[in-house]
Amino acid sequence: MKLPEGLAGVIVDQTRISSTKNEILTYAGYPITELKDVPYEEIVFLLWNLRLPTESELVSFRRELVSQMKLPAETVRLMERIAREPQHPMSILRTTVSLLGTTNDNEHDEPPRILAKMLTAVAAIIRIRNDQPIKRSKPDFGVVENFIYLFSGKRPTAEQVKMLNTVMVLHADHEFNASAFTARVVASTQSDYYSCLTTAVCSLKGPLHGGANEQVFKMLETIKQTGQDPLEYVERQLESGQKIMGFGHRVYKHGDPRAAILREIARKISYETGNEAYFEMEEQIRDFMFEKTHLHPNVDYYTAVIYHCFNLDRDTFTTMFAACRTAGWLAHIMEQREEGCLIRPSSEYIGETNRHYHADKEAH
Ligand code: ACO
Repeated sequence: MKLPEGLAGVIVDQTRISSTKNEILTYAGYPITELKDVPYEEIVFLLWNLRLPTESELVSFRRELVSQMKLPAETVRLMERIAREPQHPMSILRTTVSLLGTTNDNEHDEPPRILAKMLTAVAAIIRIRNDQPIKRSKPDFGVVENFIYLFSGKRPTAEQVKMLNTVMVLHADHEFNASAFTARVVASTQSDYYSCLTTAVCSLKGPLHGGANEQVFKMLETIKQTGQDPLEYVERQLESGQKIMGFGHRVYKHGDPRAAILREIARKISYETGNEAYFEMEEQIRDFMFEKTHLHPNVDYYTAVIYHCFNLDRDTFTTMFAACRTAGWLAHIMEQREEGCLIRPSSEYIGETNRHYHADKEAH
């Protein structure tokens, strides 16, 4: 029996949350192109309830999320210790999520509070690593406005909120990607929310998944700092069998619909912040990659430059992805718990057979 590598194309379960059918990304049936400017919290409500909120439901959902954007004091104390260590921010986040699941007040945590804590934790990791004091959320700010305020320490402009809102909406969910599937496997054992989320963070960390955004910017920085020609650099990488991070996708073979939207945001913000050299380099590499490989950029290609323009350190980029994706992970955990059964596939054994311990020991 020949199995598709990496379960490519294998339908392993059903979902109502999101779809990439025909390479069109939809959330609960709505195409992402129609949702890109919708407030992030409205998208979260949609992913969790599979319908749009009424105006009053949206107002109270927003209020609930904002009011919960705080962390238990004991978690902050431990975070302050671990976040200063020279560890990767995704490792710090992994431990932080696990810590959130061990505090006294976590037992009755429900998705809104968990999402609010995750956004706050990512912002806190960014602040602690920069030796900056942790900020308190503002009740009169929206969710995205608060998130930017919590990591940057400054009230964002309306334009910044709009741009990051779109980034967050586009990252909110993506059907059975590796980290959501990981979370679902853990949820299928009826494990708790924080255990599911910890494993999702572990899965997102890898460079073939969410870790790609950091690698994209590492490449751009290397090219810029060494003064190399971007196309010669990429060509050398390809010739030596290396992948170019931020290109290719398991389900999008004709282009990632999120990348098309993010490209315009990257263009705008890079020119506004004097970082256009990075964006222009990306444009050159994009055209060259298509010519050479017919591969298209994916979601991580443009967020690398966008996050840099938000003054974020390269190694925190994937924690930003985790913050946005927590909404989708929680949706999948809930769906799996409510509708799914234990995920326990089988494998085809291809190792040795018919061995006998005593006979082999004697023969040695
Ligand atoms: N650079 C160069 N070549 C590539 C790239 C790339 N980024 N991506 C795929 N290829 C090549 C492969 O080497 C392979 O070539 P071959 O047939 O000659 O062996 C062919 O294209 C098919 O690639 P696969 O890796 O088999 O395709 P798959 O669908 O399994 O991979 C993946 C998708 C893992 C995302 C891949 O494109 C990749 O590694 N990209 C770089 C990492 C990246 O950007 N990841 C983020 C994905 S988006 C997300 O997870 C949020």
